Amino acid sequence: MTGIHLLRGTSGAPVAPGRLPLVGHLLPLMRHPIQFLQALERLGPVVKIYLWRRPVYVLTTPELVRTLLVQDAAKVEKGFVFDKARPLLGNGLFISEGAAHLHQRRLVQPAFHQDRIHMYTNKMAAQASLAVRRWEPDRPIELIENIHELTRDIVLEALFAAHLSPDQKDRILQAAPVVLGGFIRRALYPSSVIEKIPTPANRGFDAAVRALRHTVDEIVTQASQGEPAEETLLSLLLSVRDDAGQPMSPVQIRDEAVSVLLAGTETSATSLAWLFYELARRPELQDEIAEEIKTVISEDGVTWREIPDLALMGAALNETLRLHTPNWILMRRAVLPLRYAGVSLALGSDILFSLTTLHRDPRHYPDPFRFDPERWQRDSTKSPKLFMPFAAGPHKCIGDSFAWAEMMVIAVTVLTRWRITLVAPDSVRETANSATVRPDGLRVTLHRRN
Ligand code: HEM
Repeated sequence: MTGIHLLRGTSGAPVAPGRLPLVGHLLPLMRHPIQFLQALERLGPVVKIYLWRRPVYVLTTPELVRTLLVQDAAKVEKGFVFDKARPLLGNGLFISEGAAHLHQRRLVQPAFHQDRIHMYTNKMAAQASLAVRRWEPDRPIELIENIHELTRDIVLEALFAAHLSPDQKDRILQAAPVVLGGFIRRALYPSSVIEKIPTPANRGFDAAVRALRHTVDEIVTQASQGEPAEETLLSLLLSVRDDAGQPMSPVQIRDEAVSVLLAGTETSATSLAWLFYELARRPELQDEIAEEIKTVISEDGVTWREIPDLALMGAALNETLRLHTPNWILMRRAVLPLRYAGVSLALGSDILFSLTTLHRDPRHYPDPFRFDPERWQRDSTKSPKLFMPFAAGPHKCIGDSFAWAEMMVIAVTVLTRWRITLVAPDSVRETANSATVRPDGLRVTLHRRN
């Protein structure tokens, strides 16, 4: 049901101020996206903005977004961001919808079962420990680069392990960030004609998409011809059979692997970067967490068993996912008429929401811009359903437990070895020029802990 353009009957939402002829609200959305989306809350629960001439309905309350994602899941599809991505990135979980999505989700789900997460956690701990030992002490570094490298390594190991050659790994590491960076930018272009203009950015994006698909194809072909090696996500995708006894096609396996690669690296890396930023600003809290780690974790390192016992660390990570929720822009499109807060949305309406701004709603999080891990110990049961860093409903992040384990393991490993200080606290800026909200200008110094 893609490409629906029937919009008659949509009515009643206030239009955000500042609309310009032709471009609509594109300029504030590109220049100050988070502030722009956050300010819409004051106008009402459903606000109309224009991307070029296309009207888009922004849902500004967590209650409505939850209704959209859960109760109304069958009345929407993923929308134009994903329509544009489909021809390039295929039809993996991240992009597919409806019955095809459900079918694939059932097949891929076992790769994220708890026993598998336990197995991955042991590998994550070994990888994190090796990486953080190589980090250099006592000089300013771009922490986010190091963390990105580590989270990509972790996802690649879980996906492919020994199936991946160093050259293939390099190609993926170069291509994946370019694809992710271009993905949202392209969605905001008014027509696909602009994507065909051979600018350096467009050429770079197309080349990165080709390289990513080609490299993953190569890995899938090699793995399907060889002996099953270690248990990886890829080995599971190769062995799985649907109800009719059919295996997944090599193209579908490639698309699923690309989906996981794109959905599963930047999100965890930016969350960790924000966590370390917040802890660097609060040396006492950082020391308290380091103490907790010392008490809970043995010298042999962290395993999945101890993760739930790290109460303060867990609260700090939850608070990071609240205040700095990575996915600042997500979309859906109505395939049936909808009605939210008295506003009727006709078939074909585009709907936008920002998980980042939703989690800064003072009705649910008093003093919402304050980083306060203790609120999770005080108010944790207040409105758990409205806390949705991993979204909700049938498209809820399939990697949520993987991500939680990964972030806890990396945080524990880093904080056991290093004390983090900020080089220039005032130069860190929240930016949203990619798929996630990042701390730009985050430079830190690492000091060895005794
Ligand atoms: C902090 C870390 C992460 C956050 C905040 C996050 C958030 C999200 C969100 C909000 C969605 C839903 C998008 C939508 O509905 O349009 C999603 C989907 C998805 N995520 Fe994550 N994610 C994280 C880590 C991961 C990891 C580590 C993996 C894999 C290893 C992963 C794999 C996926 C996949 C495959 C989907 C598509 C699921 C579907 O539509 O069925 N994510 N994620």
